[in-house]
Amino acid sequence: MMLDKKIAEMLNDQINKELYSAYLYLDFANYYADEGLDGFAHWYEVQAQEERDHAMMLRRYLINNGHRVTFGVIAKPDKTFENHLAPLEAGLAHEQYVTSLITDIYHVAFEKKDYRTMQFLDWFIKEQGEEETNADDMIKKMKLFGADAKGLYALNQELAGRVYAPSATGPAM
Ligand code: FEO
Repeated sequence: MMLDKKIAEMLNDQINKELYSAYLYLDFANYYADEGLDGFAHWYEVQAQEERDHAMMLRRYLINNGHRVTFGVIAKPDKTFENHLAPLEAGLAHEQYVTSLITDIYHVAFEKKDYRTMQFLDWFIKEQGEEETNADDMIKKMKLFGADAKGLYALNQELAGRVYAPSATGPAM
């Protein structure tokens, strides 16, 4: 069964959005590295790797379903940050946006009774829940502990411990 044209286009576009997410989070990492917060920078470097995995999963799904993948331009991350909290808040807003994109694709798949794509996207639906929770937790911790130097130091140390783990379902799916 060939993928529906609209669904294929939305999934193809989502590859670009996920690669942009990787680019955006690397930009956050650049900011934190410049601020001397290497743990925060590391956390976002790992996050960028996960975003690339998401892009690869989408790409592989399209290829496996007979769709010719095409790439667009990846937008330039253009945010400037006033303080250490700002990227974290931008991160949550971005994940909420990505959730809305995934939800839109899911909705079209549902309307067109494309159960295969719905099943594929189930992983992303769950992942987005986790991504939003992680982003929200970062903000909460920063607000609680980030205001004084010792707290910020400890938080930076904690975030330095994040380990990259490829997701169970791919990038090689
Ligand atoms: Fe690929 Fe952060 O969602």
